[in-house]
Amino acid sequence: MAEARRIDGKAVAARIIETVKAGTAALTDKTGTKPGLAVVIVGSDPASQVYVGSKAKTANECGFTSIKHELDAETSEATLLDIVRDLNADPGVHGILVQLPLPKHIDEAKVIQTIDPDKDVDGFHLINVGRLSTGSTDEAFVPCTPAGSMLLIRDVLGDDLSGKTAVIVGRSNIVGKPMAQLLLAANATVTIAHSRTKDLASVCRGADILVAAVGRPEMLTGDYVKEGAVVIDVGINRIEAPEKGLKEDGTPKTRLVGDVNYAEAAAKAAAITPVPGGVGPMTIAMLMANTLRSACRSAGVEPPKL
Ligand code: GUN
Repeated sequence: MAEARRIDGKAVAARIIETVKAGTAALTDKTGTKPGLAVVIVGSDPASQVYVGSKAKTANECGFTSIKHELDAETSEATLLDIVRDLNADPGVHGILVQLPLPKHIDEAKVIQTIDPDKDVDGFHLINVGRLSTGSTDEAFVPCTPAGSMLLIRDVLGDDLSGKTAVIVGRSNIVGKPMAQLLLAANATVTIAHSRTKDLASVCRGADILVAAVGRPEMLTGDYVKEGAVVIDVGINRIEAPEKGLKEDGTPKTRLVGDVNYAEAAAKAAAITPVPGGVGPMTIAMLMANTLRSACRSAGVEPPKL
């Protein structure tokens, strides 16, 4: 079989950002409403800092008001909950995102459940989880990474996945479980596999659509991939790359890889997302789309179709 089509998440994300920009300009023109996104980060985890920085930057590019709360790692749960409540009450804020993970002394679930479900652009609140799992996808805020993955799948296979089998490797609340709901809503026959699944490779080889969200670098080799499958790699893992030489401090340079061995999987798949440049850019684009949708809802305006 020929080498797989490389699914260009960067290009699809850029298209969504352009749609969000145009939708924002139209909304602001018509109603005076400017979408507002508040991002809250507790502590100084470097990866989280990078994510939060690019979320705020993209929000500005889209024409949003962007609010960033950077709190030190010792911030109490009560203080964080007060900030969330203030953002809930602020009519200029349409989306609230509290970057995870939070420090150990803070109850993550409590913080998420305090966010107003109608400003929960991450889609983590139980109300939104419930809406998605009961099929009210129009009302729900859908978590950004699975929502973005789903757009890439639709780009390749269309909207109706009737008769297709989908296997998701990973059962997290942020990716695996909502991904299963979205695929099910599109009529796929869905299996959620995980680290305790017996004979994982053979389960994965049954998949027309294979979604990898395990957080283990290049774990899914060619042996896991059915001929002609669509492979979506959600993993972002930094590994040492001694072939690139050494950093100034004498340690090896690094590179990003997914949960899928790209070269091996691409030799069998019909289409596959690369890392970087696949699902990653879609996550931020979907966050912007969710925030615009929230602002449109509050102004009683129909949001743009993606
Ligand atoms: N940490 C890693 N991914 C995410 C995400 O999508 N949202 C939030 N809030 N935190 C994260």
